[in-house]
Parts: sequence; structure tokens; C-alpha cells
Amino acid sequence: MCGIVGIIGNDNAGYKVLQGLKDLEYRGYDSAGIATIHNDRLGVKKSVGKISVMEDGFLKKPLEGRIGIGHTRWATHGVPSISNAHPHLDCSGRIAVVHNGIIENFVSIQKLLIKEGHKFVSESDTEVLAHLIEKFYKGNIERAVKEALMLVKGTYAIAVICAQEPGKLIIARHQSPLVMGVVKKGSYIIASDITPISKLTKRVIYLSDNEMAVLSMKDYHIVKISDLSRNLVKNIERIDWELGDSEKGKYKHFMLKEINEQPDIVKNIIFSHVIKKKGMIKFGGLESTWRTDNKKEQGKTGMDYLLNVSRIIILGCGTSWHSGLIGEYIIENLVGLPVEVEYASEARYRNLCINKNDMVLAISQSGETADTLMAIKEAKKKGAVTFGLVNVVGSSIAREVSGGIYLHAGPEIGVASTKAFTGQTIILALMAVLLGRHKGKISLERGKKIIKSLEKVPVQMKNIIDNDNSIKLLAKRLAKYNNFLYLGRAYNFPVALEGALKLKEISYIHSEGYPAAEMKHGPIALIDKNMPVVVIATDTEDEIYEKIISNIREIKSRRGIVIAVASEGNRKIRNIVDETIYIPRTDDFLVPILSVIPLQLLAYHIAVKKGCSVDKPRNLAKSVTVE
Ligand code: G6P
Repeated sequence: MCGIVGIIGNDNAGYKVLQGLKDLEYRGYDSAGIATIHNDRLGVKKSVGKISVMEDGFLKKPLEGRIGIGHTRWATHGVPSISNAHPHLDCSGRIAVVHNGIIENFVSIQKLLIKEGHKFVSESDTEVLAHLIEKFYKGNIERAVKEALMLVKGTYAIAVICAQEPGKLIIARHQSPLVMGVVKKGSYIIASDITPISKLTKRVIYLSDNEMAVLSMKDYHIVKISDLSRNLVKNIERIDWELGDSEKGKYKHFMLKEINEQPDIVKNIIFSHVIKKKGMIKFGGLESTWRTDNKKEQGKTGMDYLLNVSRIIILGCGTSWHSGLIGEYIIENLVGLPVEVEYASEARYRNLCINKNDMVLAISQSGETADTLMAIKEAKKKGAVTFGLVNVVGSSIAREVSGGIYLHAGPEIGVASTKAFTGQTIILALMAVLLGRHKGKISLERGKKIIKSLEKVPVQMKNIIDNDNSIKLLAKRLAKYNNFLYLGRAYNFPVALEGALKLKEISYIHSEGYPAAEMKHGPIALIDKNMPVVVIATDTEDEIYEKIISNIREIKSRRGIVIAVASEGNRKIRNIVDETIYIPRTDDFLVPILSVIPLQLLAYHIAVKKGCSVDKPRNLAKSVTVE
């Protein structure tokens, strides 16, 4: 939520900040703002709405300078407006601050500052930071920022510039993400994530909690906020994202591009982890030694832990929670190992019982979701071994957990997650096969058969995507309805949840996902001729298929419109439903990776037909860094 960018040591800092904000826009798009320093004076531009509004104004009258900061906002405190947009300034207009996070004690600090004569112009919690820094400013901006931060409670990633010290950019973080890119000595870019950074440099430093960096046109140093006197030595890491990864290319929307990328991503995941001859799976992230503070456990690998766990607790939010549910079904069915899936936000505030030999697995595309991050920290306090399934390399969750597996799916820009979902799901399926093989639940022969099925999945995914035209036509017919139900059983129940989430996120149509049998306990009351019901009715498991056909008849008896996602070759189903989308056949536990694709495409085309902002739906953000 919210994105911040800062540049120092670049002749075109303001423009570069603007470009950086465009890359971070998926984090929030309620308002935007930029500040630069030119001829020892602060120049500021703000706009309400998307970055394109800011861009129009900026290009007409650019802000000059070799240092600048910028912000794209997802409103938490105060409506989207010019006065609430960042950067926020102090009374003198010399200090500018951009902030991602929430200052929890801003009301009490604000009262104190107002008493001292500070004038506030916004409803934003961030503004207290600018005034607090002003209060402590006695000619040393580094010290003033530090003193201000010692007083605030909450979460932050901030960037601060001061017209009296025009050669310094101060940044700091506490529980909100912040990365620093080293372009060359004296030239740096900082941002909430690596997307804008990767365009200028591949060399980055990840700031940790309670760290502050002072960047100048000569050099930089990093310190602990509580101890400014000691410089920290931090490694410069190399990132491997390519420029084109965060561009739309030939596609109209990032979401469509990302849907189309899925076959290749899944192919890469499968082919880099299967050992065909042994019917086995291997993950480098599980073979390596995991981080631990426990001296007795030092040197243990991920596999050492995983093969001895008695239960896996999966934590996640949104789409990542859905893939976790599929993981639960697959691991329990294939391995017989108990798995629980929890919303991270709920797990954190209840007494989640963690026993010895439990492992806590965090699933997160961004690796920055505040609820998931905090829940992981909570689990660590309770002694759990933590494990991450994350897409963004070097993200907060990736660095918090003991070890894990990266998706390597490239940047996901569309707010509605697609490729991360299939990437997460296939990795969970591979993990289940790995555990099943090691624990003797899956024989060598079955392992080999599974690998054969796995190898076909990418082509099967592509076949569904190539059938996009018929889904597009269907979407045109369905776009007029106001409510949808999505039903599925077993492995397809989480897919129903995900299909409904995709539709509501990007088309603003009310939609709900349910286990098909639960329909009788409530949703059936809603069914009439105006209620399309998307039923995932694949026939890989006979018993389940028969039950779902009964559910379809129940819907039809109430004049509901049934759209079935069915297994290729099942002609009979066409006689009882209104519309059929076919998907290729595969093993039952791999079906979700295929059945979700038509639902992604259906949501996409309905949203396009309705003229919605597909990649940046209203009120949503890609990276939810507030609780
Ligand atoms: C937001 C995004 C979703 C995502 C969820 C969890 O709501 O819009 O697409 O599924 O956060 O994010 P994570 O990065 O932790 O997977």
C-alpha cells in the first residue's frame, strides 16, 4: 500500500521519480506527489487520482533538481485530496517527507506540536513526521529524522529531503518495505520495491527494520536508528528481474499478460524441479541450510525440518490464502500429513496453538503483506519453524522466515493475482509429491506417472488460453448480471473462491464462492433466472462428479443460469447446463491449475466489457502493507 521513490545524484531526478511512481502505481492510486530541491528550494507537485494526472501536469512544468522524492497513495488517513497527498511539508516548507505505513500515535504527537505552534494542513498521519523533524532540526537532518523516529509508534518506510541540506536523502524503515538501488557512487534510487529500481540498476541493498540510510551525492552510510554513531556494513545484492518483465508489451493489460505468462512460469517451475528417472522432486531452497537462532538446530536443512513435521500451518491473505487451501487438500490427500490454512490476519490475533514439530508456511506473492508478515513473526515467537513461498526476492517475508522457495514468476503488476496463484499452487503440488515420495506414500512408479502428467500441464494451460475467444463471447453475454455464484467441490472448491474473487475485484460484480454442497444451506435462496452460477464440474473423481451434477440440477430447477467448467470429452453435461467451458484432463490434484484459467479469463473479459480499470481496480492495492 502506497509506494515511495527517491532519487539522488541524477540530473533529471524529478522525472525519474515520476517514472518510478508509474512502476509502483499498483501499490495505490488515490493521489500522487513529487518534491525536488533545485537552487536550494523545495518544489512540490501533487495530483489526485492516477499517476497519469500527475504526469500531464509534470510534463507541462517539470520540477528540476538532482534530488527528489515521490509518493503514490492508497488512502488510510484522510480522503484522496491534494492536501492529504504526500509529500508532506513542515511549517517552513523546507522539509519534505513521503511515507508508507501508519503512524499510530499521530494524534497525541499532533496535539503536542499544535500546542508548540505547528500548523497542520492535512488529515494525514504522515504530516506529524514533517513537523516533528522540523522541531528537532538544528542543522543536521540525519539527527532530526532519528529523533523524530524515536518518538513515533507504528510502521513506516520514509524518505526525507531538506532544502537546507540539498545533497542528502534520508530514508528509514520499520515494518514497511524499502529497498535502495546503487546506480554508481553518489547516484542512488530508493523505492518500496525493486520494480522501479531494476530499470536503473541491478545492485540493491535491502534495508531492515529500524535501519536508516543517509545517501549523498558522494556516498552513503547505513545506521541503526537507535545508534547513529555506528555504520552498518550491508551486502549489495544482485537482482535478476529484466526490464521487459514489468512492461505490458503487446498486451492491453498487465492482467492479460500475466494470464498468458502462466504456461511458461509453470513449465519453468516443473522442469527445474523434477527428477524424471527417480519420479522425484527437488527444491534448492529445501536442500540448503535454514536460518535459526537455536544453536542446537544450526546446520539443519529445509528437508531435515520438513520430513519431521507433524503438521503444516499455512498462512496467507487473498489469493495466496486460496492457493494455500488447495495445498492443504493436496498435501493431506497425497501425503496424509495434517495441514491447516489460516487467514494471516486471524491467526495473528487469536491464540494459534503451535506445537513442537509444527511448521508454519507463509504464502505471499509480494512478500510484504503486513498481516502475513506479522503472523509469521508471532509464530516465530511461539517457537515455530517458518517457511516462505514468496515471489518477490528479498522481500520482508522472504527475509523473515527460516527458509523457503521462491516462485520466480517475475513481477506481478495486475492487482488481481493470476500467475502467482498458479505458481504457488504448482509448487505446493510438487512439495506434496516430494513429501509423498520421501514418506513412502507415493511409489516410484506413481511418482513417474505424476511427472508425466505434470509435464503436460503447461501445454494444457496454453490450450485453454488459446480458447480465449469463446470465453470472451461468453463474457459479453454475462456482463449484464449483478450477482454471480461460483461452486466447486474438493480441489475445485478453492478455485470457486478464487474465481469469485477475481470477478468481484476487477468488475465490481458481487460474486461469492461456495463449496457446492453448502449451496443448500443459504445461497440457493438467491437463485433465480438472473443468477449465473459458475460450476466447476470436472469429472476426474466419479463420486464427486455425481454430486456436483445433482447440485447443477438443483440450480436448474430454480431457473439459475449454469456455466460449467467441464472435462474435455464430457458431452453429456451440455444437455443440462447453459454454457460449457472445456478444460483438458489431468490428475485430480492438478485440476485447479487448469480450472482456474477460464475463470481468470472470464473475470478479465467481463471487466473489460464493463469498461473497468482492470489492472488498478478501485480501492484495491497490490501490496497490502497495512493491517
Ligand atoms: C492484495 C492483492 C491480492 C493478493 C493479496 C495477498 O489483496 O490485491 O492480489 O492476493 O493482497 O497478497 P500477497 O502479496 O501476500 O500474496
